[in-house]
Amino acid sequence: MRNNSGVGSQLSAKPYLIDITLLREGIKNEAEYPFSIPALRDLTTLTFHPDVTYFIGENGTGKSTLMEAIASAMGFNPEGGTKNSLFSTRNTHSSLADFIKPVRSYKAARDGFFLRAESFYNLASYIDDVEYTGSYGGKSLHGQSHGESFMALLTQKFRGNGLYLLDEPEAALSPSRQLSALAVMHKLVKNDSQFIIATHSPILMAYPNARIYLFSETGIREVVYEDTDHYRVAKDFLNHREQMLQVLFDDEE
Ligand SMILES: Nc1ncnc2c1ncn2[C@@H]1O[C@H](COP(=O)(O)OP(=O)(O)OP(=O)(O)O)[C@@H](O)[C@H]1O
Ligand SMILES: [Mg+2]
Repeated sequence: MRNNSGVGSQLSAKPYLIDITLLREGIKNEAEYPFSIPALRDLTTLTFHPDVTYFIGENGTGKSTLMEAIASAMGFNPEGGTKNSLFSTRNTHSSLADFIKPVRSYKAARDGFFLRAESFYNLASYIDDVEYTGSYGGKSLHGQSHGESFMALLTQKFRGNGLYLLDEPEAALSPSRQLSALAVMHKLVKNDSQFIIATHSPILMAYPNARIYLFSETGIREVVYEDTDHYRVAKDFLNHREQMLQVLFDDEE
């Protein structure tokens, strides 16, 4: 039957997470962690790409802190996993989530996962203990290498129509597996999924037309891929490895 309403199957539910706003009223002490992080000081609203948004920037600029707060505000366990993963090892997440207002799609994502960089091991233990390993390729995640278990997660557990928050997934992956991960991401994006990824990898951050947010001492701003240090430094290094090493080592001496 023809749909005359204009609202039909073509209307995508994406982005599942449209934007977040940091609610400043109610913050008791802006000089305290996490509000003291320079990148968060001037944060008002951050909008997300329907397909892929990256958080990049130097170590310690606040990417994980914001990612965890977003995950928590969206109903994920801040220690990582699906919305049903209720394990807890210790309370390291900040109170930032209480001040994050997410604007969601009219339609909730049917799948989702939060990969927290530091707690994949704990999550794997929880999954082995409680969840059905069938959806991870039928094999204990601890019985697989870090990279193998991450790829199992990506290929077997992520089903599409999902919101996936990943903090430094490259930690597990060889360069060629990072390319495979991009290919799997592409399939999931085509299958109505949205990703938010914190990364340092020039390969992993190469998803076409993605939105890239650079976290720094001066705040959070959007940058284009070719202007990132990650791209430039990697390209210069690979093209001029010997000269760069010489300059680096000369400086040390
Ligand atoms: N529980 C905490 N209490 C106080 N300060 C913290 C806490 N956790 C993190 N920080 C500080 O907050 C800042 C941001 O940390 P965060 O982990 O968000 O950085 P990041 O951008 O994810 O860095 P990386 O690229 O190294 O993962 C850092 O200066 C860090 O030392
Ligand atoms: Mg981090």
